[in-house]
Amino acid sequence: MDREKIDATKYYSDVVEIMGRQGLLLGSFDAEGKANLMTIGWGAIGRIWGIPVWIVMVRPSRYTFQCIEHSGCFTVNVPQDGLESACALCGSRSGREINKFLECKLTEQRAATVLAPTVGECSVVYECQVVHSNDILPEKLSGEILTGAYVDGDYHRVYFGKILLAAAAPDAAARLRQQ
Ligand SMILES: Cc1cc2nc3c(=O)[nH]c(=O)nc-3n(C[C@H](O)[C@H](O)[C@H](O)COP(=O)(O)O)c2cc1C
Repeated sequence: MDREKIDATKYYSDVVEIMGRQGLLLGSFDAEGKANLMTIGWGAIGRIWGIPVWIVMVRPSRYTFQCIEHSGCFTVNVPQDGLESACALCGSRSGREINKFLECKLTEQRAATVLAPTVGECSVVYECQVVHSNDILPEKLSGEILTGAYVDGDYHRVYFGKILLAAAAPDAAARLRQQ
């Protein structure tokens, strides 16, 4: 899909709404160069240190955790047009066992600015370089969140990705809103 550069916040409310409803697709390469996708439901776009950032949260148990630790970058791909089943699969199966691009019949494309894959079928894509990461500290978490989200531990690592490129297809607004 042809995409052109956009301001990182252009589709902010659509992206946050889709993230909460079906999830977004986080792309990364493993150490062997195999592309992986993982569905994320938690994250934020913002501006920190004077730069646009995506903040994503990845549990250490995910294959994606190893991938981002190795590569230091990731992409965030916004699904639409009936990609619900791809989000369900990428959110329930691990890249340790399967190639999710092949399983979901998605087109793997190389990002322009980072060593990470993008999803050809997604009309909005962000390319991000990790500039900071930290771990959720249980002793600093409210009890309600601790018992709700971390029954088994597996505390997220929080990645702050500098958005090097945000790009969208010319008809992205219509695609995002027709769901
Ligand atoms: C809607 C949805 C949202 C999710 N959000 C996250 C998330 O923000 N962080 C996370 O670590 N796992 C999240 N998951 C779970 C991972 O997507 C899932 O464990 C996935 O299989 C991990 O793939 P991987 O092992 O290839 O990295 C979510 C799953 C779904 C279905």
